[in-house]
Amino acid sequence: MAGLLASLLLLVLQTLAAPPEFVPVSNPGLTDPLWANGTAAVVGPSLAPPPGTSQRMPHSIIIGVRKGGTRALLEMLDIHPSVAAAATEVHFFDWDENYARGFDWYRGLMPYSYPYQITVEKTPGYFTSPLAPERIRAMNASIKLLLILRDPAERVVSDYTQVYFNRLEARKPVRPIEDLLVRGGALNTRYKAIQRSLYHLHMRNWLRHFPLEQIHLVDGDTLVRDPLPELRRVERFLELPPRIAASNFYFNQTKGFYCIRSDGRERCLHESKGRPHPPVNGTVLRQLRAYFRPHNRSFYKMVGRSFHWQ
Ligand SMILES: *[C@@H]1O[C@H](CO)[C@@H](O)[C@H](O)[C@H]1NC(C)=O
Ligand SMILES: *[C@@H]1O[C@H](CO)[C@@H](O)[C@H](O)[C@H]1NC(C)=O
Ligand SMILES: *[C@@H]1O[C@H](CO)[C@@H](O)[C@H](O)[C@H]1NC(C)=O
Ligand SMILES: *[C@@H]1O[C@H](CO)[C@@H](O)[C@H](O)[C@H]1NC(C)=O
Ligand SMILES: *[C@@H]1O[C@H](CO)[C@@H](O)[C@H](O)[C@H]1NC(C)=O
Repeated sequence: MAGLLASLLLLVLQTLAAPPEFVPVSNPGLTDPLWANGTAAVVGPSLAPPPGTSQRMPHSIIIGVRKGGTRALLEMLDIHPSVAAAATEVHFFDWDENYARGFDWYRGLMPYSYPYQITVEKTPGYFTSPLAPERIRAMNASIKLLLILRDPAERVVSDYTQVYFNRLEARKPVRPIEDLLVRGGALNTRYKAIQRSLYHLHMRNWLRHFPLEQIHLVDGDTLVRDPLPELRRVERFLELPPRIAASNFYFNQTKGFYCIRSDGRERCLHESKGRPHPPVNGTVLRQLRAYFRPHNRSFYKMVGRSFHWQ
């Protein structure tokens, strides 16, 4: 058993590239806690909301980080019967044109939920947005924030990989990652993907508006390898009774990722999200890791916790 687990772990580590997006395998459409029995998976505007439900402002927001595993976290949390998850990334607090539409517009994008449920939305862009913290605070100063992080250097490569495939699909020219990471022989620290991985700079801005106790950190590297312990911590943080169980996860050998089994339905990681990273020049990768070393130390100090980033 231990040997099997170890080889599964290895498999995950080997195939782990970008953090996963979940898609339903046995049921197309969105996952919605209101139709937990799986009879109607998609809530369209033409469908009358179930009696006793309404759209509520979020009680918790997954604020980031981009490519940190935010979709995986939201989908796994959505297993919980007391969680109602927003289906799409809302970009309310980080995009001025959306913010200008006001709170009623925002609430209109939230899922219908029962009074015993908490509403959760996720928009990874919030973490690096200069204005998102104060805007969220103005909405609800006691809101619970979730931040999922992974190794900052891995995140850079994953960020690049996503843009790379998006450009390929749009038939736009692509550049090797080294061209973006290196300028004139030195690390190009102005590269956006590197800037987004400077967690302590962004975190400082959040801590100006929220106490640390209100921001729960999820270890994204751990979540994909062993989801349950991380989810237990999230349940406790959200003051939810423990309802997510080991039986809600099964390992898909083909994918090398965990998939979700919930309410008789199975959901897996989206193909586009488990893509292998392109090979990165070892010298450049070492430069990148060395660059992050003092930065992640500042971050560990700031949040009073360390991660196994290497
Ligand atoms: C499933 O849920 C829907 C919506 O709440 C309900 O109308 C339907 O009767 C349920 N079906 C079963 C088999 O429980
Ligand atoms: C603000 O968030 C807290 C924590 O989730 C929640 O208990 C409270 O009901 C929220 N307030 C409003 C007005 O939504
Ligand atoms: C496992 O992953 C493969 C490859 O993506 C997929 O085709 C298959 O449906 C998955 N199987 C299960 C049981 O989730
Ligand atoms: C990797 O990058 C270094 C420094 O930019 C360069 O000197 C070296 O030739 C590169 N190695 C390969 C295999 O491309
Ligand atoms: C910080 O991260 C770097 C590179 O990602 C790693 O080599 C280093 O060990 C980490 N620092 C600490 C204190 O763990």
